[in-house]
Amino acid sequence: MSIDPDKLEKIPRHVALIMDGNGRWAQERGLSRLEGHKEGAQSVRAVLRAAARAGVEFITVYAFSTENWKRPPQEIDGLMKLLIGSLNAYEQELHDNKIRLRVMGQFERLPLPVRLRLQKTIDATADYTNHTFIIALSYGSRTEIADAAKQIAKKVKAGELNPAKIDEQTITDHLYLPDVPDPELMIRTSGELRLSNFLLWQLSYSEFYITDTFWPDFREEQFYEALEAFNHRDRRYGGVKKK
Ligand code: IPE
Ligand code: IPE
Ligand code: MG
Repeated sequence: MSIDPDKLEKIPRHVALIMDGNGRWAQERGLSRLEGHKEGAQSVRAVLRAAARAGVEFITVYAFSTENWKRPPQEIDGLMKLLIGSLNAYEQELHDNKIRLRVMGQFERLPLPVRLRLQKTIDATADYTNHTFIIALSYGSRTEIADAAKQIAKKVKAGELNPAKIDEQTITDHLYLPDVPDPELMIRTSGELRLSNFLLWQLSYSEFYITDTFWPDFREEQFYEALEAFNHRDRRYGGVKKK
């Protein structure tokens, strides 16, 4: 039975997704890993559409981790080309749904054509406020936190910041996207029970939804199932259950 997102009581403002299982999806079908990534790009599109329809404001997808640079050069190259191709093919949908594109990660480490292509769409969608689509690219949470520590230390050294005043908000303010609220829901596909260096700080109190479905098979319906599961969660934040 399909789920009607309009009937859900709680809609998270921000959903983060670890898109995993493209390789296994392809392997099961005797296809190349890149074919899996290509099919996975269609799932990104489907999730963006479903999120816009359900009223989710922010979607963050983990597309490439700092650790993914260890993959074979052909796969990395294929992923980068796929990113450019997807932006060319789907930019219009971002405009149609007034979705702002942002990226988080080591931007300068990406190949120049990728940076230029991303920047074009980032600039072209910068004024949209309905929805935000964040791609984590060459992203690693530990690097993000270490970079924040570096910036904070510089401010302390320059006398701009009192070390006694450093609190949780100070750390948040020095992360890549300080103005984005923490995700209420984190989805990981393909059954792996780990964070793989994704948003360690931001996911401190998020609900986790892990599904065995491989990312290329995760579409609108599966996204709504995750939202539905979120509706049954009892979030206590260390307090006691409300009656
Ligand atoms: C996720 O799928 C995509 C990226 C990490 C870029 P994988 O490529 O990790 O697929 P599996 O885990 O090998 O199946
Ligand atoms: C996590 O998937 C990174 C992305 C989805 C971009 P991986 O496939 O790289 O993670 P591990 O290696 O299984 O932890
Ligand atoms: Mg994987």
